Amino acid sequence: GTSVRLAVVRGDGIGTEVVEEGLKVLDAAVGSDVAIATTELDLGARRWHATGETLTDADLETIKAHDAILLGAIGDPSVPSGVLERGLLLRLRFALDHYVNLRPGRLYPGVRSPLAEPGDIDFVVVREGTEGPYVGNGGSIRQGTPHEVANEVSVNTAFGIERVVRDAFARAQARPRKHLTLVHKHNVLVHAGDLWRRTVEAVNAEFPDVTTDYLHVDAATIFMVTKPSRFDVIVTDNLFGDILTDLAGAVVGGIGLAASGNINPDRTFPSMFEPVHGSAPDIAGQGKADPTATILSVAMMLEHLGLADAAARVEAAVAADLAERGDRVRTTADVGSEIAARLRG
Ligand code: IPM
Ligand code: MN
Repeated sequence: GTSVRLAVVRGDGIGTEVVEEGLKVLDAAVGSDVAIATTELDLGARRWHATGETLTDADLETIKAHDAILLGAIGDPSVPSGVLERGLLLRLRFALDHYVNLRPGRLYPGVRSPLAEPGDIDFVVVREGTEGPYVGNGGSIRQGTPHEVANEVSVNTAFGIERVVRDAFARAQARPRKHLTLVHKHNVLVHAGDLWRRTVEAVNAEFPDVTTDYLHVDAATIFMVTKPSRFDVIVTDNLFGDILTDLAGAVVGGIGLAASGNINPDRTFPSMFEPVHGSAPDIAGQGKADPTATILSVAMMLEHLGLADAAARVEAAVAADLAERGDRVRTTADVGSEIAARLRG
């Protein structure tokens, strides 16, 4: 049979709890067909307090020896802002070349959107994952003085844009509507915006059956709440994609349902699957967190690993759970167990 080497990073806060349920469902989904060998990595706030380390080169080498990574959440109020986000989460995304940050936005039957008339929502955001203002190309001078200047320079390379745009076109071509929307802000960010625009135009020649349009990011936020059904595939830069996918998560029923994959399409390093939500320290340890986003991330992981059957079964089990859950209040573990039970059927 197949075997999968899975690196598990539970991380901080509710990360531990939701990953537990993700693994429970993974187990139920693959049964005895696939041997899952997990390696738990102690990364996050606890490790940083104990050792001062976020992610060592040795950790990274360990992780690279796996087929995929399942991550819970990173971040804790006891650690200065940015230390774990940059030193751990973003370091993983950059070092493992996760240039496609894939974030589906789908309104499942039975799930209540905050929109009065949501329509049929089924799109996917292809968020660039290795460039933009996230690269850490910044600095400040005259810190603490009235003349302080703080810069975060957005880095956009032709290479980096072209590869993510090509991936987005391929995803659009594989979907029924075959439509791609570029989201940027080329009326203000003229240099980067123009490079993104020209790249979409050029790559479109390779995918002539895909239609495209363009929205400034501010206008995209309007459409995300007035007519989200208009979107099929969205391609956008790292920061715009970050903001737009939190909004998208809210629109399709809450961030507790929003899954993501940090994909390395060239498979030079393992891809990483994680819920879009954070560590939610306010509800950590109480068994209140919704593990659904993590479970849907597990489905994305199975798909990436070539286990499309198991992926489809997990998604169907989640869809069935969502269709029936209504306002029933359950613990994190109960949600995981009930979805796992559907898989064992
Ligand atoms: C996300 C998060 C991260 C991001 C933070 C925690 C660095 O908000 O995965 O969307 O900005 O990418
Ligand atoms: Mn975010």
